[in-house]
Amino acid sequence: MIKNDLFLKALKGETVERPPVWMMRQAGRYLPDFMKLKEKYDFFTRCRTPELATEITVMPIHQVGTDAAILFSDILVVPQAMNIEVEMKPGVGPWLPNPIRTTKAVEEVIVPNIEETLGYVMDAIKMTKQELNNEVPLIGFAGSPWTILCYAVQGQGSKNFDKAKKFCFTNPIAAHQLLQKITDTTIAYLKAKVEAGVDAVQIFDSWGGMLSPVDYQEFSWKYIQQIIDALKDDIPVIAFGKGCWFALNEMANSGASALGVDWTISARNARYLSGGKITLQGNFDPSRLYSPPAEIKKMVTQMINEFGKDRYIVNLGHGILPDIPVENAKAFVEAVKEYKAG
Ligand code: CP3
Repeated sequence: MIKNDLFLKALKGETVERPPVWMMRQAGRYLPDFMKLKEKYDFFTRCRTPELATEITVMPIHQVGTDAAILFSDILVVPQAMNIEVEMKPGVGPWLPNPIRTTKAVEEVIVPNIEETLGYVMDAIKMTKQELNNEVPLIGFAGSPWTILCYAVQGQGSKNFDKAKKFCFTNPIAAHQLLQKITDTTIAYLKAKVEAGVDAVQIFDSWGGMLSPVDYQEFSWKYIQQIIDALKDDIPVIAFGKGCWFALNEMANSGASALGVDWTISARNARYLSGGKITLQGNFDPSRLYSPPAEIKKMVTQMINEFGKDRYIVNLGHGILPDIPVENAKAFVEAVKEYKAG
């Protein structure tokens, strides 16, 4: 039904003529048309207005040529729906005026009705699906419970999320209550996204790598596994954990259809640690898109040779940076489309 089904084939582990390609944060600030809309509408207005979210979501499909679309939204709309105030401050990023740092604050966090609080996301999905006209699949996403907790407790972005970790290690009971509430909300949210029409979902554990392997199991993976268990019979799930290479073996046995990896692991080690059978996604260093297009193309070809063309989805190892020239993003995508198994 979907004309370009390379991405869905790779998720199933089927043989493809070339691997599919998309970029994390592909609907973003490196696109001049995105910047025009950003001048007119603030961040959460763009998220909450289905026409705008649709327009932004399809931009990289037409302008860069990726093989999948990812809905323009943010992982932080989930804590917003749970009664946690979240602002997007220009120049600062996510800003939460009332961080969750006590048992009482956790008790006040709600598991919301999804249709009432996040219905606008489902409207954006339906509108985007129509606009895409079955050209490429649409990816829905959510943050991992741990990554959402990081923002909810820290109150803003951080290099080490020290306040989030302090909360977990000094008040583990409240931390687990919060993680479970986020998990329950996320499961209902992703199920609603599936109903609305997304073709795959990705869980972003952007800050899982802040934890030791043991703490990762307790505070992050346990909850991601609950989400995968609840979704995997309905839709392919991609689990992306930045800096989480130490958990690849566990992740490979989770029922996820694919695992996202960052650039700090070689293709060979990622294949080895994940058991060699599961589809992998990644892992170009986003800063490498500053290299000249010819060099980008060479490196992408080498990356595909290392991962192998099958059971592989070409992507960056984290989100595209805002000041990457569009030409360089295009070179990244073109290199994949020109790939010939050698
Ligand atoms: O193209 C896509 O990937 C879809 C849209 C998307 C956004 N955020 C749009 C966005 C996705 C998938 C996200 C996920 C997200 N949001 C994550 C996980 C992925 C990752 O990068 O680790 C995280 C941690 C967030 C939280 C968040 N939202 C941050 C850290 C920021 C950046 C703040 C800044 O100014 O640098 C945002 C804002 C945000 N989300 C922007 C975009 C395009 C930029 C701000 C803007 O457009 O005004």
